[in-house]
Formats: sequence, C-alpha cells, structure tokens
Amino acid sequence: MISLALLAALFSTSQAISFAPKAGTTGQDIALVLFQGASSPAQGYAPVAQQIQQVAAQSGIRAFVSIPSFVFDTPEPLQTDSAFNGALKELKGLGFTGDNVFLAGHSLGGVMAQSYAVKHTDVIKGLILEGSVLLRGTRKVQANGFTKFNLDLPTLTLCGELDGLMRITRCAEAYYHQIENIDPSQKNLFPVVPFQGFSHWRFSSGALPSNVLNNDLQAEISEEEAHYQVASAITGFIGKLIGNSRAARVAATSVFDIKPLVEAMKLENSYYIRDACYSQTLINQERPDCSKGSPWVQANAQRIMGGDLPSGVKLSGDDNFHRVWTVNPVHLPQFNNTCDGHSSCILNSVTVTELINTELDVMDTGMFPIAALEMRCKLMSRQATQKAAGVEKPDFHQTDEVGNRCADINNEAIQYAYSHLSTEAKKRYDQFGQKLVVGDDQGPYNAGPLWIWTNMIYEDNSDKTTLTLKSAMMRTPTDYLISAAAGFHYCKLLSPFRAMEWMQVDGLKAHYNAKTHTQELAFLQ
Ligand SMILES: *[C@@H]1O[C@H](CO)[C@@H](O)[C@H](O)[C@H]1NC(C)=O
Repeated sequence: MISLALLAALFSTSQAISFAPKAGTTGQDIALVLFQGASSPAQGYAPVAQQIQQVAAQSGIRAFVSIPSFVFDTPEPLQTDSAFNGALKELKGLGFTGDNVFLAGHSLGGVMAQSYAVKHTDVIKGLILEGSVLLRGTRKVQANGFTKFNLDLPTLTLCGELDGLMRITRCAEAYYHQIENIDPSQKNLFPVVPFQGFSHWRFSSGALPSNVLNNDLQAEISEEEAHYQVASAITGFIGKLIGNSRAARVAATSVFDIKPLVEAMKLENSYYIRDACYSQTLINQERPDCSKGSPWVQANAQRIMGGDLPSGVKLSGDDNFHRVWTVNPVHLPQFNNTCDGHSSCILNSVTVTELINTELDVMDTGMFPIAALEMRCKLMSRQATQKAAGVEKPDFHQTDEVGNRCADINNEAIQYAYSHLSTEAKKRYDQFGQKLVVGDDQGPYNAGPLWIWTNMIYEDNSDKTTLTLKSAMMRTPTDYLISAAAGFHYCKLLSPFRAMEWMQVDGLKAHYNAKTHTQELAFLQ
C-alpha cells in the first residue's frame, strides 16, 4: 500500500510548507526558513513551526515560517539557493513584509544553512542551528588565545543532551569556543542553548528516519514541551536581534548544564580546544594559542603511579604533549631532582602525553567521540618515584608488578566522571547505562614500539551491561639492562572527558536508545 504521505510527496507541486501567522496576530514581521534534516520530511517540522509562531505571537512577533522540501528530503548545496528563495517568496506571498529574515537548519540542514547563510548575510539577519553546530572549519584560536569565527552572523546553537547523532560533547566544544573562549570582538554573537533530556528527533516530529532511529537516544522531554523550549529559545534570540524587548526576554527554561562537560574537556585539554604545542624540547612552551599538556595527567597520573611518598615529600607535575612515537628526539619522562626522604622536599616530575582521537570524525558531524579514545602517557614507575622520593631500595615487583597501576589511574577518571554528572544523568546511567569498569592492565609491552601501537581495549560483555577497559602498559625496573629505558611505567589512560562522554552518550546506546523507546511504545499500544 502506498501511503498518503508518499503520494503527497510524489505529486507535491509546492516546494515548501509555509505558515502565515494566525489572523489577528499583531507585531513585527519576521520570516523564518527552516532546512530539514537528512531524510527528515518537511511535514515533520510543521508542529514546531506552529509552536514558534505561537510563542512569537505572544510577545509581539508575526512569524512567517517556511520549510522547503529538498529532493529525497535531503538538503544539498546545489538546491539551497532555490530552496531558500522559493520559501522566502512563498512567505512574501502570504503577506510577510520587511527584511527580518532568519535561516534555521536541523542536523544536515544546519550544515547547509550555515554555508548558505555566510554567503547571504545581506539578506539573512541570523542563523539558528538545531542539533548542529558551527563547523570547526569556521573558527580559529588566534595568537591571543581567543577563538574567532570567520562569520559575523549572529548564530543560535541549539543542542540536545540526549542527541545520539550530534552528541552533547560536540556541543560542549561549541560552548567552549562560542562562549567561554570567544574573542571579545565577537562576544554574545553565538549563544548556545543545550536542552535537557532532549534527543535529536525532538527538533522534528513523526516517524523517525532510519538513521535517526538507529542512532538517537531516548528523549526525556515530551514532543510538545520540546517544541515549546525550541520556540522560546528562538523567540528570545530573534527578539534581541530585531529590538523587540518583550520577545528578547523569552528564554528556554529546560536547559542542560553543560559546564561540567566543558570542564572535563579542559582537563583532558582536548586537541579540539587547541592544537598541541609539540616541540623538540621535552618541556613545551606556554603559549596562548596551543596546549602544553594535559591538566588531568599532570595532577593525577604520576601521583597515583608514584603511590604514598615519605611525609614531607610533595610531587609536582609538569605534563607535556608530544607524539609518543617520535624517536628523533624521543621525549621521556623524568624527575628533575631527588629528595632524601627526611627533609621537606618538592619532587619535580615531567610526564609525556599524546591524545588519540577517533579518525572517524573528519566530517565533524558530532556522531563520533569528541573526547580522546586514549591518552598515551609516559610516566616514571612507582619504583623510580619512591627512589627519587628517598625511599631505600623499593622493590620493583611490589611497586610495579603487583596490582594494576594504570587501572588505578583510570579508576580515578571514572570516579571523576561519575561524580560530575547531573543528578538526572547519574540516575539514567545507573539504571540503563553500560557501566564503565576497569580490567587488568595488559602487557608489559616492553619490546620496541609495541606499547605505542597496542590500543587500550574496550570490551563489551555479552548483554552490554558493562564495558571493561584494559590499559596497555610497559614497565621497566630502575636497574633495567637498557639504562636509557630504566624506571618507566607507561600507560594508556582514560580521559575523564571520555568517561563522562561515555556516561552521557555512548554508554546509553545499548539500552536507552530511540529503538528501545519505540519498542516500548509499540508494546504499550
Ligand atoms: C626540569 O628539567 C627540564 C630540563 O630537562 C627543564 O626544562 C625544566 O624547567 C625543569 N623543571 C623544573 C620544575 O625544575
């Protein structure tokens, strides 16, 4: 049976679905063109469009909204011009006057909308991205350390905490650059509103396209409430831009606190915050436009690896980003000094870290992990630490072979992540999440570069209730045959940002996804 919707799509003569404000609405005219997501029928955006009109109307805005249909319901660059102009023409036909024109886009539509909008700032007054962000290619961390975007178009970024396609950690990256680290000349130009309990599909409605069904998470906000939140955020944004003070005060209320994710990202010191300051020397320069090392590693890795030190001895860390495979020069961890174990003393440690990100993320869609998959970390062994701290003859077997030093450090990352989740996120992860746990360290991989290329193992159990993390490790006693390689204990470390990202996104995919939700609904009906 051919569905009515399919027939309608096949024989549709209209290029867009357009809505005039309700008769009797008074106030300023605005036109809003909304680009659909991939395989996401235009009709699905009708409810949110009408919700936007309603909220706008309450604060004196006559919103004309149009959703153009792309071929196969999938926006692509060659059609954007005619789609946009066709939609705008329809809105003018419906009575829109003036020049307050805005462009929005959901998902892939957001990607198309931004590349179109930057070239048409003469017509478009503001851009709204839904489940989509300003792409990395549009920004640069400048010599002064601040982020600058190559567009001056006011852009509102709307994200969902439970968006399984454009993940919330990508939104945290956007928040960092668009808000926290924005160049003073572009302050307030790029607001970010992350909605709590909000999935990718909550920006639209109707049956989920397969790509969304296969990847999205379960929403915790009703469709109606979600659309109301979207409408409120958009009305407030537009209100400010057109100088409508009543509308400018409208804001979303169900907002997710994204700052803990941003903090975890800074602890990792993600390469998406800044490039690493790779240098020939062991100690990288401190520069505003690149990153010296990882604060997480600096504060925790050598400390936990080193174990309890004689009272009076304090460890001070200094982590440096280097590519761990470079041999010319090779960058090795060290202690700069030794302590006698009796007097008070600061033991200065230098460690070496490289962050490894997924290679799947080239399109910057937010579909793949933003956090580093592993932190390759060169540390001094516990034996070497104890020795440098003034402990007599620490025994390598006891210090570095018994137990799992790398797992100890990774456990701390898991604790950090869990304790920084919101109450709701904790509850959700406790109940439905695939639990992140540490297993035994693997190795030692002492032969040549084996440690470098042995990835941290992420192992599902059969029913995906746990994910066991096993670090690859390399360790050598202080009297190792090759003295240049003596006294090390290298680890593949878990980034605290990755652990949080797991608990917020990937760890929910097995048992808290859009499909489980749909199945439950089908079961209930
Ligand atoms: C440790 O030694 C390195 C040279 O190997 C030097 O650049 C660095 O400043 C020293 N750090 C401290 C805290 O002494």
